[in-house]
Amino acid sequence: MPIVNRVADLQPDIQAWRRDIHENPELLYDVHRTASFVAARLKEFGCDEIVTGLGKTGVVGVIKGKKPAGEGDVKVIGLRADMDALPIQEATNLPYASKTPGKMHACGHDGHTAMLLGAARYLAETRNFAGTAVVIFQPAEEGGAGARAMIQDGLMDRFGIEQVYGMHNGPGIPIGSFAIRSGPIMAATDEVNISIEGLGGHAARPHKCIDSVMVGAQLITALQSVVARSVDPLDSAVISICEFHAGNARNVIPQTAELRGTVRTLMPEVRQLVEKRIGEVVAGIAQVTGAKITLNYQRGYPVTVNHGAQTQFATRIAREVAGEANVHEMPPLMGGEDFSYMLESRPGAFIFCGNGDSAGLHHPAYNFNDEAIVYGTSYFIKIVENAMAA
Ligand code: NI
Repeated sequence: MPIVNRVADLQPDIQAWRRDIHENPELLYDVHRTASFVAARLKEFGCDEIVTGLGKTGVVGVIKGKKPAGEGDVKVIGLRADMDALPIQEATNLPYASKTPGKMHACGHDGHTAMLLGAARYLAETRNFAGTAVVIFQPAEEGGAGARAMIQDGLMDRFGIEQVYGMHNGPGIPIGSFAIRSGPIMAATDEVNISIEGLGGHAARPHKCIDSVMVGAQLITALQSVVARSVDPLDSAVISICEFHAGNARNVIPQTAELRGTVRTLMPEVRQLVEKRIGEVVAGIAQVTGAKITLNYQRGYPVTVNHGAQTQFATRIAREVAGEANVHEMPPLMGGEDFSYMLESRPGAFIFCGNGDSAGLHHPAYNFNDEAIVYGTSYFIKIVENAMAA
């Protein structure tokens, strides 16, 4: 028996919630409508406790099993979904497309939230476990570190969470299958901002100038040598300088230039190394060119690291839901995810649930696939029922 039978009955409701949330996307911490929607559903389901406003706009529901956890057993499991959308103009032509211009659920967080609501409804209805399930609905996954804000507001300690499980849909992964790996599964995402102050002047008199454009070009090239020549080729790092702003006339050497980019790594020691080498390269280029270069390196989300035992457990549960052949070990992704903060705080695992042949995440034509609902929801349910078996 793969999916939970009762979840198939709940599917139309979960799909309707998903589409309602999809129609009403909200950004970062400004997820007031979505959070109210979630809290109202949790109340209807009869959760034992509902807390709103954690991490500004996060919502938590507490569901107690039919008996307390046994001595030495896991007592509290946290399940997490994210609620926020993206500043993208939707181009799906769906009947339930975003009603707000310039905002869209292009990462499927509408689906994550609806699936976790479905699991909460089932768990509150059946209570067929020993211990406590805590359903976590966080704001601001898309760059606002909402998970960290909820942890800083006491999420883990207040509810006694011992293990935590998260899920993301995966375009390109077939419907009804899962992908997961132990160890690093998603990258640390850091920001690089570089300001170059050269000496502007006439394009025909370069010897009297310090050409900020040429300095920027040298920097961009030299920074790639960090990946090519400082990082072990068997480790992973990406440096992408994606913005280069300078000049506004063809015959004027500009005084200043601005570079902005992102750094992705999968190991703390590689992250450390890359940050240090970027500083050294910037200082070196400043010295050889005579430009004044200011580096502002901002650490973003840490590496998302799946814990060994919990990943094994999650894999077993996913296999139970999807079948042995439909759970795959995946390579890590260089994208970021703020569930990383939760996995730094408690053991757990992050899994990808197949979204089929959809447009990619953050694409204007992306849509969460409602056929994934029964699988994702069943996975959440079975995590609780197996980790805290009654
Ligand atoms: Ni996402």
